[in-house]
Amino acid sequence: MASLIITIDGPAASGKSTVARLLAEKLAATFLDTGAMYRAVTLAAIQAGVDLSDEEKLLDVLDNRNFQFAGKKSKMTVCIDGVDVTELIREPKVTANARHIASAARLRAKLVQMQRQFAAGEEKLVTEGRDQGTVAFSNADIKFFLTAETGERAKRRQAELQAKGISESLEQIQRAIEERDKSDQSRAVGPLKPANDAIVVDTTNLSIEQVVEKLFGYVEENA
Ligand code: C5P
Repeated sequence: MASLIITIDGPAASGKSTVARLLAEKLAATFLDTGAMYRAVTLAAIQAGVDLSDEEKLLDVLDNRNFQFAGKKSKMTVCIDGVDVTELIREPKVTANARHIASAARLRAKLVQMQRQFAAGEEKLVTEGRDQGTVAFSNADIKFFLTAETGERAKRRQAELQAKGISESLEQIQRAIEERDKSDQSRAVGPLKPANDAIVVDTTNLSIEQVVEKLFGYVEENA
């Protein structure tokens, strides 16, 4: 088991991936993006043409394809059957359909198990998602929960998409974020919520660098 586990949970587009990656870099820790795991299973299920609401079929996809999540320090590469899908899993179609995989209880249990196995092979880990501090690593050394106002999160997501040449209206993005929040907060298993012992950080008026500094300062004092 890793000697230091830091969890960062939070809603869509709260900046947690970027912050977790940069914090991992500063701490010479490995970074685990658990959203990428849900996205990879979603992509594989779409490719297989299975009914996304059929949990048995989703479990078959997870069991029969070879998923590889390789953490190279602050970067994580995702492969399915040896094919690098790190970029493909970011497509809007995958984002919109990940909620099916996220609400399948037995599938979640398997992914949580994979996350713990991943942690077991690392010395220091910064892991981000929705349930890292509440379920996957309830004994983590330090837990953060990042929030930001929905409008601000929509702006950040729009800038991210624009950088990739994808143009979507702010209203459209905000609606999609609200739908994802609702689905993430209301599912029966591993719902999005701060752990009782999480430090909640509102990033609405903070730059990425400021958030990273804040978290890093806290880790230095408390780890
Ligand atoms: O963080 P990201 O947007 O990449 O996550 C994609 C989807 O995977 C989320 O909308 C959420 O439903 C799901 N997820 C989850 N639990 C995690 C990480 C992600 O349910 N630990």
